[in-house]
Order: sequence, then structure tokens, then C-alpha cells
Amino acid sequence: MGKYRMKAEKTVKSLVLGILMSCLCACGTAQSAEPDRIQLGAAYYNQNDTFLSQLDECLKEEISRLEKDGFEVTVTTRDAAGSQRTQDDQVKELIEAGCNVLCVNLADRTDPSEIIDAAREHNVPIIFFNREPVAEDMMQWEKLYYVGADAKLSGILQGELAADAIHADSRIDRNKDGIIQYVVLEGEPGHQDAIIRTESAVDTLKKKGIRLEKLSCGIANWNRSQAQNRMMQAIGQHQNQIELVLANNDDMALGAIDAYEKLNYTESALPVFFGIDGTDAGLQAVADGKLAATVYNDKEGQARAMAALAAALVSGEGMEEIEFVNGRYIYLPYYKADKHYAETGK
Ligand code: BGC
Repeated sequence: MGKYRMKAEKTVKSLVLGILMSCLCACGTAQSAEPDRIQLGAAYYNQNDTFLSQLDECLKEEISRLEKDGFEVTVTTRDAAGSQRTQDDQVKELIEAGCNVLCVNLADRTDPSEIIDAAREHNVPIIFFNREPVAEDMMQWEKLYYVGADAKLSGILQGELAADAIHADSRIDRNKDGIIQYVVLEGEPGHQDAIIRTESAVDTLKKKGIRLEKLSCGIANWNRSQAQNRMMQAIGQHQNQIELVLANNDDMALGAIDAYEKLNYTESALPVFFGIDGTDAGLQAVADGKLAATVYNDKEGQARAMAALAAALVSGEGMEEIEFVNGRYIYLPYYKADKHYAETGK
């Protein structure tokens, strides 16, 4: 083969390669010029809920971070103000408006069927969060996911915090009878977190050797002012006997503290209070020494998981990197938030 022919062949080869390469690059550019568009519809059972309003801020932050990854994002938020009917309509409107992924915090966790039907009809995946649908409903369609936290763990951690406090400070057992008289303030009936948190907190206290006597258990639906009312009633019935208040969330623990403040109780006559969530107000109360401790409900982690899942569902990429339990559930752990944590964030 002549020298020139070889050279010519080489030139042709590199030309073809060059054309191929530039074609590939151009295709690459064309794709990245059209970023995946995440149009997320977020439906809340009640935006007055303290924990959820703070989770919502985290979610918006996490979703907007996806812009750095080349996504174009919009978030539309709806508040059902406690009504499943309202939420059904809101979700249908979100779908009509073009949302391609939904984050749904059910008003009634036992009644998601209308929402699932509408989403399935338009092939829009749903990430349920915080209010867990029952297992059978999660089986209705394969594009249903859940992001939440391990309720049992929150109760165990609350129980451990309370047991440690009782062991460390004999003044908590004010009447010195070797038994801790306590009151429970419970969240919404039927909510997966309410019953499990109470049961596992009480069980843990018992396992840790604390003798307990339940004076009363009031349902306050996660709500501070309802908790204040329930606590006023309990104080009316049991006066100075109450030594410990276990609340299923911080807002209710704060409501219980409000009741004592309203009645001008002196500090030495107060019970110890424990919450769950680590809301801004909850952590402040722990730092101020009003709330003995709380259990951190990792809203940042939940929001991060929801954003990552939304991005993977819309783009079809990265699902394999997400760790699911039972294929479609993500549970973030809780952790203890005592005075040191509330003051230092560590
Ligand atoms: C939180 C509560 C909140 C409830 C709403 C729970 O996980 O601890 O503060 O009110 O979720 O569904």
C-alpha cells in the first residue's frame, strides 16, 4: 500500500470519526438543552399543622436544588384544610394543570382511592408522605410510593429520654411513691404515628424499670390549643399529682405547658414534658428548659428523599440508587433532641 493511500485512508477515517463525534456531541447538547421538567403538585392535609408547614419549606428548598442538576422545576401547593373531598378535587386540578409527579399528604389516610384512580388514569406517580396509606391501598398501582418515618422508633426514643430523666432526677417523682403518675396527649385517632408512639414510649419506660400510673389520656389531634384544653381538664381532675406528660408531638407538649402557665403553677409543681418533632418552637422550648426533651422528626431528610424520588420518577434515572423498604417505602430515622442538641444542633 502506497504512503499516500495510507495517509488518505487515515484522513477519511478521522473525518468520519470527527463527524460521528460531533454528531454525538450535538445530540448530547440537544438533550441537555431540554432539561427534564419537574412539575410537582404538593397536596397537604392541613397547612396550619406546624410540623408540615416546616416540612413544606424543606421540600421547596430541596426541589429548587434540583435546578442545579439541570431540571426545570415548578411546585404548586394545595391545602385541603382537613377535608379528603377537597383534597380529591385539588389533586385532580393539579393533574389537569400538567403536574407530572404528586406529593400527597392525605387528609384521610384510609381514603386515597379517588386520588389513586385520577393519577393512574394520567400516569402520574404519587409519593405519599407523613400520613401513610394502608398497605392494601399501596397495592392499587405500582407507581405509588411512601416517604415517612419509623413511628415505633420515635416512641422508643421518647421513652428512653423520659426514663433517663426520671432515673437522673428523683425530684420528678414528687410524691415519692416510687411510681410516676403520667398523662398522655395523643394525636389524631387513626394516624399511624399516634397510637404507636404512645405504646412504644410507655413500653420503653416500663422496660427501663419505671413504674407508671396513667392518670389520663386525651386526644388533642396534634394541636396546641386542643392540648391546652385537654391539659386544663386533666389538671382540674388531678391537680398536683401529674409528674410526667408524654405528648405525641411538640405542639401538644407546648399546649400542655401553656395550660400550666395559664394556671400560674410554680416551677417546682410542674411535671416534666416530652414531645416529638423538634419543630422550631419545640427546640426553643427544650433550649429554654421548659420541655425536657423531644425526638427529632427528620423533615430535612424526608424532603430530600421526596425530591430525589420525584426527580428519579420524572427522569427515569437514578431509581436504583434509592433504598426502599418493601420496594416502595422510605422511612427516615428519628433521633433524640435533648437540651445539648437544642442548644448546639448536635
Ligand atoms: C407529626 C405531627 C403532625 C402529623 C401530621 C406527625 O408525624 O409528628 O406533628 O401533626 O404528623 O400528620
